[in-house]
Amino acid sequence: MSTPAPDESATPDTGADTVDPLDRDLLLDPYTGFGRIREQAPVARARNFDGSRIWLVTRHDDVRAVLDDPRFANDPTSVPGIDTDKRAEMLVQLGLPREYVRYLADSILDTDRPDHTRLRKLVSRTFTVRRVHELLPRVEEITAELLDTLPEHADSDGVVDLLEHFAYPLPITVICEMVGVPEEDRPLWRQWGNDLVRMESPEEMSEATVAMVEHIRALIAERRENPAGHLLDALIGVRDEDGDRLSEAELITMVLTLVIAGHETTAHLIGNGTAALLTHPDQLAQLRSDPGLAPRAVHELMRWCGPILVTRPRWATEDIALADTVIPRGESVQPILTSANRDPRRFDDPARLDITRAYDTRGEQHTGFGHGLHYCLGAALARQEGEVAFTRLFERYPGLALAVHEQDLEWMPRPGMRRLIKLPLRLG
Ligand code: HEM
Repeated sequence: MSTPAPDESATPDTGADTVDPLDRDLLLDPYTGFGRIREQAPVARARNFDGSRIWLVTRHDDVRAVLDDPRFANDPTSVPGIDTDKRAEMLVQLGLPREYVRYLADSILDTDRPDHTRLRKLVSRTFTVRRVHELLPRVEEITAELLDTLPEHADSDGVVDLLEHFAYPLPITVICEMVGVPEEDRPLWRQWGNDLVRMESPEEMSEATVAMVEHIRALIAERRENPAGHLLDALIGVRDEDGDRLSEAELITMVLTLVIAGHETTAHLIGNGTAALLTHPDQLAQLRSDPGLAPRAVHELMRWCGPILVTRPRWATEDIALADTVIPRGESVQPILTSANRDPRRFDDPARLDITRAYDTRGEQHTGFGHGLHYCLGAALARQEGEVAFTRLFERYPGLALAVHEQDLEWMPRPGMRRLIKLPLRLG
């Protein structure tokens, strides 16, 4: 029996769409913009990029409630009556050959129970806290090497772009090392990773996807013959108690997802966090005098200026009451992590950066890494990289300073992400 498609006429009319997600002021100052929305209405109507309606969820408790509620799905085709994934179609329209769409559109982030449970269980058996911890000495070495070469990248005025020469190369090198990408291939992966996450040109994105998928396919074939003890080998060999394993396509998608999800995100935690500490000298002084504060400082920077502002949209599989609104079946909500992280109902004096704020080990109080089933798989790795990066950067360059005034730092007006275009510094 087919279920009728969601009925537009059943949608309650609560006024005109109020929020334009591409509004430049909102993109450049998401804290003020989303903060205003949060205080006006817990659930606000907005126009989605394709012109459809989306509901912004801005308060901490509501964001968590959505991310905990299995009636909100990640895969739009989980909604009875919807059988096309607009995102997958968009990738085809952008020129990605149809046979490659699955590698971008069917990641773990696009699945719901029970498929998600299966994938997450298999990957969690390999992407373990122990594996992340064992990588620490390499994270330290890679960091030290990058910091040593920073002066070579100074321009004639003695200015270095920290994003280009430290914040980007660190996470991509670490994830390549973790997965087991041979050293000679890493510049290629860095380029593909950049082309994929920057999404500046559809051709570049399409070519990078095809090249990367084929490269991963070849790497998997090679590793089946000659395992080398890296994450990829563990993913190839992983079985659950019933002998279930990842298919070839799932393996490729997982590696691609790890590289994409772990790359630009961590780079901008380092970029945003460095800018925040340099513009809050009292906080930086505390971190310098007590490097043991680094884990807390990273949690606080994730809360205060974390790079990912929103989760993926979640789709209502039935009419769902949320705060003072009913989200009609078939419509999507957009949890806004950044406004949850500055919700005064949850955090005292939320606009204040305070690296001594109390967090539990995982920092579950803030939502910078999401919440619930899809909570960031790489959070422990990102935190480790952040802790090493901030501690060693400020230790190695005690005179580090912004090369421009704080108000002249250029932020990229990009929806869903808080990131600088450049971070020009003087090493001192
Ligand atoms: C999921 C943020 C680093 C892998 C997520 C989600 C967020 C997030 C907000 C949830 C999205 C949603 O629910 O729609 C971040 C931030 C990072 C970071 C801010 C750095 C500061 C990493 C790293 C990796 C990674 C280093 C791996 C190498 C993943 C994966 C998921 C995910 C695989 C999907 C988990 C699932 O669907 O079960 N991340 N992430 N992330 N992240 Fe991260």
